[in-house]
Amino acid sequence: MGRRAVVSALASNPEAALDALVLEDQPTPQPGPGDVVVAVRAANVGWVDLLMTSGQYQHVPEPPYTPGLEWAGEVVAVGDGVTSFAPGDRVIADGLLTGPRSLGNHRRWGGFASWAVAPENALVRLPDTLSFEEGACLLGGHETAYHALVNRARLRAGESVLILGATGSTGLAAVQIAHHLGTKVIAAGRTPAKLEVVQEHGADCLLRTVDDEGNPRRFKEDVKALTGGRGVDVVYDALGGDLSTEALRACAFGARFVVVGWSATPFVARGGRDPNVLPTNLILMKSIDVLGSPAAIAVHRDPSLRQERLDAVLALATSLPPRVDATYPLERLTDALRAKWKSTHVGNVVVTP
Ligand SMILES: NC(=O)c1ccc[n+]([C@@H]2O[C@H](COP(=O)([O-])OP(=O)(O)OC[C@H]3O[C@@H](n4cnc5c(N)ncnc54)[C@H](OP(=O)(O)O)[C@@H]3O)[C@@H](O)[C@H]2O)c1
Repeated sequence: MGRRAVVSALASNPEAALDALVLEDQPTPQPGPGDVVVAVRAANVGWVDLLMTSGQYQHVPEPPYTPGLEWAGEVVAVGDGVTSFAPGDRVIADGLLTGPRSLGNHRRWGGFASWAVAPENALVRLPDTLSFEEGACLLGGHETAYHALVNRARLRAGESVLILGATGSTGLAAVQIAHHLGTKVIAAGRTPAKLEVVQEHGADCLLRTVDDEGNPRRFKEDVKALTGGRGVDVVYDALGGDLSTEALRACAFGARFVVVGWSATPFVARGGRDPNVLPTNLILMKSIDVLGSPAAIAVHRDPSLRQERLDAVLALATSLPPRVDATYPLERLTDALRAKWKSTHVGNVVVTP
């Protein structure tokens, strides 16, 4: 008998969702035709998992379901018709095609469980060089960063990029990829100790977004000083709110400003409270391209985008593995989710069922 987390009803907010999350026994599932049963070895604890359990994310899953968008594990059984995988294979789940972020019949099978069931086409072979923990964190972080920096911003060697939320899952992946592309990477965050870790992953310059009392600080002049007075060519914005506006002020003429997420303004997704607003006077006078970068929705709209992006990320995985900062047993899932929500770690947090 295994264990799984279950969301029976969406909570009113992420803190309430933590209280409502229960772990229950899980019998070993049997595969249906075309299904693969996987023993989950590691599941990424996503900021999005928590938002989703409270209905705050743009994609609202239907309870009851097991959360955990991203996971990696070992195949234990395959159903009739499965030809690509066999018991013992190491795999990563493609969270766009299975689990709570997907649209098909496998939406209730998340990774915070001993076992998950996925359709054959939703599994990707785990590169040999990656651990299950690293594999569980690869696609969400790296694909999001790749989509934003390469597909949307068209970031080129020799340019400069300011990354807001650089200590997070997607932000740290963006630092790694931007460095790999040969750009000058300015990594922004609130905590010096966390930023120092980001430097190990390719940041050229570190920028604090708050003062010693934790109050937001102006950083436009710092960015100008770091870019020879020009401002940055690209902003990767995973935060939202006033920090976005300050980053817009730090842009060079003709810059690209990529909207990736809202970690500093988590309740904007449903369109209700405090929508994020960017000042059009700055956008106009600096001739800035503001680019939305929805890595999942873009693929739902244009599936042809996916293969090149996936191939690129898998090719980068060995030289730029995701950082796993903390590992929790499944029984401590709520502690892991709380740590993620409070931004305690640099990069990724995983649970190991
Ligand atoms: N566009 C897409 O396709 C896509 C895909 C995946 C995720 N996302 C979104 O991208 C965002 C980041 O996701 P993630 O998984 O990287 O999150 P994460 O791992 O939680 O990292 C976010 C970072 O934001 C900073 N932060 C958190 N709260 C803040 C606040 N109140 N003020 C200032 N900084 C704050 C923290 O850095 P410090 O503590 O170091 O300051 C934290 O490390 C989320 O909104 C997520 O929904 C978008």
